[in-house]
Amino acid sequence: MLPTLSPAASASAATPPPRPIPGSYGPPVIGALRDRLDYFWFQSQDEFFRRRAAANRSTVFRTNIPPTFPFFVGIDPRVVAVVDAAAFTALFDNTLVDKRDILIGPYNPGAGFTGGTRVGVYLDTEEPEHERVKKFAMAILHRSATTWASAFRAGVDAMLDSIEADLAAKASDEKPSANYIVPLQQCIFRFLCKALVGADPSVDWVVDKFGFTILDVWLALQILPTQKIGIIQPLEELLIHSFPLPSFLIWPGYYRLYRFVEEHGAAAVAYAAEEHGIGKKDAINNLLFVLGFNAFGGFSVFLPFLVAKIGEAADPTGLRPRLREEVRAAMLKAATGGGDTVFGFKAAREMPLVRSTVYEMLRMQPPVPLQFGRARKDFVLRSHGAAFQVAKGEVLCGYQPLAMRDPEVFDRPEEFVPERFLGDEGQALLQHLFWSNGPETSQPAAGNKQCAAKEVVVDTACMLVAELFRRYDDFQVEGTSFTKLVKRQPSPTMSEPAAAGAQ
Ligand code: HEM
Repeated sequence: MLPTLSPAASASAATPPPRPIPGSYGPPVIGALRDRLDYFWFQSQDEFFRRRAAANRSTVFRTNIPPTFPFFVGIDPRVVAVVDAAAFTALFDNTLVDKRDILIGPYNPGAGFTGGTRVGVYLDTEEPEHERVKKFAMAILHRSATTWASAFRAGVDAMLDSIEADLAAKASDEKPSANYIVPLQQCIFRFLCKALVGADPSVDWVVDKFGFTILDVWLALQILPTQKIGIIQPLEELLIHSFPLPSFLIWPGYYRLYRFVEEHGAAAVAYAAEEHGIGKKDAINNLLFVLGFNAFGGFSVFLPFLVAKIGEAADPTGLRPRLREEVRAAMLKAATGGGDTVFGFKAAREMPLVRSTVYEMLRMQPPVPLQFGRARKDFVLRSHGAAFQVAKGEVLCGYQPLAMRDPEVFDRPEEFVPERFLGDEGQALLQHLFWSNGPETSQPAAGNKQCAAKEVVVDTACMLVAELFRRYDDFQVEGTSFTKLVKRQPSPTMSEPAAAGAQ
């Protein structure tokens, strides 16, 4: 294990002269089609990258990345795949890569999905508008600090009430289970509207009931051409992966949300104009993108991973009792006045095992697995003990799930080790945790492309774990359903901490 060696240091320790990047794109059309079928049909995404890395004996190699539309759509699927921790860092270097219009790869769903605005995530750091919009996103997050935790707790409470009721209603079933996806998405949507936009969706019945479904459809139309869904082949290839999906299908829903933000989030929109010089239309479209794509999309993917992993029936490492103990200790501390409060941002940073578990989940299953960037110039890409010549204009495609299982960096890389990030050695590994499009040890800034909510995302996930163990002595999850909820038995030494006002 090389926990304290930075990727740059390990890569440059023995730098051989650059060699050509191995791998081939295959014959025109046929090569891209073969790779597309492997990616979506014959292999999983993971297997796709693993097999090619093995076949090329290299963690940097050439391949086509789907979708591969007919030539007249004009998308070039040729990329340089990067699947080790050292070379991956090139994707965070603004002097090397241009991030213009390349969020989900060579395919860009287009501004038709965002009310005609090229929103911040599609802007490169060299475009002046990026700095303006990123600063606005970070400021909105900063402003939300006073409401974020309480809005989240309220959402989680409502979600768990609904799941409990569902499970109780099915108590006589042979194997009772309550699916949590809809209540979770409802919780995420409502809390984000309150925290980010400053608007309570309950003022608008349609937005409150169907807002999250509108976002699901909106997200699906943008990203499905790049995703394996699992419907019967070749239908999936023909219907979903062969052409860009049209944005007009979701315009009525999108504009319903647009009007909601315009009317009820007027303060945030005015703030964008007054403090950041962003006009009304661009402010609303950017707010909706941050809320719907970055935040709602990110949490909707990540929180189920986390809940399912912690709730695994087998619990081979006895993780649940250990997490419960840590959460209960934090509760006790708060109840006896030794701490600030529980389940706010402060407490989220004072539960080391909970936090390490969240980091390990982000390492094993990063919610945004692929990162892209176009070479600004010819440069040498350094990997462990190898160097490759990249030409200006080539697209780098980093696959995080392999880069963050790099055996040169992580011990037992394929294993879920909840305590991996504990202690000094564990903290040193955080430089190799890349889920936020940057090392966990770096900070998002107007001049980089790292997730604006890097800290808040980890804190929020910690709060969810804490909230589960505040309420339950134990629980079990199978896939996307709770199968067991054991309510917390009151302890004679512990009174309920005052959650109100906890931030
Ligand atoms: C689990 C939740 C989240 C995940 C996994 C996530 C992940 C990411 C990733 C990977 C990027 C970089 C995309 C790229 O350029 O390749 C990104 C960018 C961004 N994220 Fe997040 N994010 C999450 C939640 C949030 C939240 C809650 C917010 C704000 C409220 C947010 C705001 C942003 C913004 C503004 C950017 C663009 C940064 C830039 O253009 O410089 N994200 N996020």
